[in-house]
Amino acid sequence: MAHGYLLASFLSPITNQRSDHYGGSLANRLRFPLELFRAVRTVWPQHKPMSVRVSATDWVAGGTTGADSVLIARAFKEAGCDVFDVSTGQTDPSSKPVYGRMFQASFSEQIRLEVDIATMAVGAVTSADQVNTLLISGRADLVALARPHLADPYFTLHAAAQLGYEGVTWPSQYLSGAQQLHALHRRARDDAARKSD
Ligand SMILES: Cc1cc2nc3c(=O)[nH]c(=O)nc-3n(C[C@H](O)[C@H](O)[C@H](O)COP(=O)(O)O)c2cc1C
Repeated sequence: MAHGYLLASFLSPITNQRSDHYGGSLANRLRFPLELFRAVRTVWPQHKPMSVRVSATDWVAGGTTGADSVLIARAFKEAGCDVFDVSTGQTDPSSKPVYGRMFQASFSEQIRLEVDIATMAVGAVTSADQVNTLLISGRADLVALARPHLADPYFTLHAAAQLGYEGVTWPSQYLSGAQQLHALHRRARDDAARKSD
C-alpha cells in the first residue's frame, strides 16, 4: 500500500483522481484498500499477523501527511492489522523528501504513539546501534533494513558479533569465521572497557 503501487494510488489524494465513491474523502480513498485487507484477513489465519506498508507522507503539498497516516493506521488497526510498516513517498515525482539518518522514523513514532499499533520503521537505518536506539526509545517495534543488506549480505551476522550476541545461526561451513569475528569483537569490547576504567 506504499510507493505508488495499486493500493497506494487509492490512498493518496495526489494519485487518486476518482470521482466515484472510491475517491475524494479519506474514507472513500480508504474504501478499496480496506475491502481488500478485510478479504485477505478473513482467509489468513487469525493467529498469524498481517502488516500493511504505507507511504506515511507524499512529501507533496496537498498530499498525504503524518496526521492523515494516523487516521489510515487507525482504520487498518480496526480492520485487524497487527503491524504498520511506515515508509514514505515515491508516490509522485514532484515530491520533496527530507532525507537523513532514519528519516522516516518520526512517522513510525507518531503512528505508534497516537494509534497504539505496533510499527516497523524503515529507511536509512544503517547500523545495529541505530536499530537498538529506535527500539529502546519506543519509536518502533521492528526495524527493517534494505540497502545495508545489499552492501553486506552478512550484516545481521556481523552486527550480532559486534554486540556479542551468539543466538544467530551461521552456516556451518563458516563457523571458523564466526569464531574469529566474535573473538575480535570481544577483544575490542574488552579494550574499550579497560580504557574507560
Ligand atoms: C533493490 C530494492 C528493491 C526494493 N523494492 C521494494 C518494493 O518492491 N516495495 C517496497 O515497498 N519497498 C521496496 N524497497 C524499499 C525498501 O523496502 C526500503 O523501504 C528502502 O530501501 C529504505 O530502506 P533502506 O534505507 O534500509 O534501504 C526496495 C529497496 C531496494 C534497495
